[in-house]
Amino acid sequence: MQLDWKNLGFQYLPTHGQAQCDFADGKWGSLEFQTNPMLSMHVAANCLHYGQAIFEGLKAFRTKDGRVVMFRPDKNASRMRESAERLCMEAPSDELFIEACKMAVTRNIDFVPPYGTGASLYLRPLLIGTEATVGIKASSSYTFLVLVTPVGPYYKDGFHPVEALVMLDYDRAAPKGTGRAKTAGNYAASLLPGLLGKKKGFPIILFADPKENKYVDEFGTSNFIGITAAGEYKTPDSSSILQSVTNESLQLLAAEMGLKVVKEPIALDSLGQFSEVGACGTAAVITPVHAVHYGEKVFRFGEKDKAGQTLARLYKNLQAIQYGDSPDTHGWLVEV
Ligand SMILES: Cc1ncc(COP(=O)(O)O)c(C=O)c1O
Repeated sequence: MQLDWKNLGFQYLPTHGQAQCDFADGKWGSLEFQTNPMLSMHVAANCLHYGQAIFEGLKAFRTKDGRVVMFRPDKNASRMRESAERLCMEAPSDELFIEACKMAVTRNIDFVPPYGTGASLYLRPLLIGTEATVGIKASSSYTFLVLVTPVGPYYKDGFHPVEALVMLDYDRAAPKGTGRAKTAGNYAASLLPGLLGKKKGFPIILFADPKENKYVDEFGTSNFIGITAAGEYKTPDSSSILQSVTNESLQLLAAEMGLKVVKEPIALDSLGQFSEVGACGTAAVITPVHAVHYGEKVFRFGEKDKAGQTLARLYKNLQAIQYGDSPDTHGWLVEV
């Protein structure tokens, strides 16, 4: 496959197909590779009306020594199970989840970008309720699929810090709501605040905790991490944010680098304690944030055009493991 790997964005490109499996009559059917990217479903399917739709996101990489590896798919499998539980859905077992990921990558192996391009193959596992229901109830049938698409390097011309806006007019999730689940509705709800933030010139927005609006929750599609001058790696302890696989991995690397990892509520008023702030997630690993606008206040972190050195090191260390440049001492990579 010849694609302009280095200049690919984060968008959907047609591939050979997706791994797919249906749940009906109380059991999962066989896992199959489907080449038709269109799904046929009932007009009254539960996912269309009542939002039984959850998904995941992870990446596969071509390593220096020519292997193709997925980064911690077991974490995404267990997070999908947790999301499914919150939304009363039937989840695939971890084995089925990982087998489907492997099938989707293997059958699209020529879409895994070459080592050295900074590009990767993005995997999008999806689970939807398909039963025709008009009364509100959990679906008894589901489709689970894993589609893939090659994506370019997030930072094509360097690791550029951005400015974020604290969104106080809208919440991303309700207290005791579905903020911890990776469910479609959370993202639909974040579109308007995201758009309003962009109109004001902010590429990313930071949501406050939905209960008191006083604490940091998370960015629109990534977790919040902050580094203090005292050598701490802090991230919010909140029940309404997604448990980021990237954040958890960075916490381990941070501890290995000698940083003290602290998970605690982070008051918006206390953002001045940080010398570096970042947004972390699968897509970019870390996006450095050099300013957070909170009402009339502006908190600034480090230099405008340069990421702080601790976040830059964490970013480099995680990517080095993903591309096989450093040994995978934690057993995070699953070969396909
Ligand atoms: C709301 C939200 N928070 C955090 C993350 C980061 O999670 P992960 O590191 O598992 O990609 C994502 C992206 O998937 C997200 O959508």
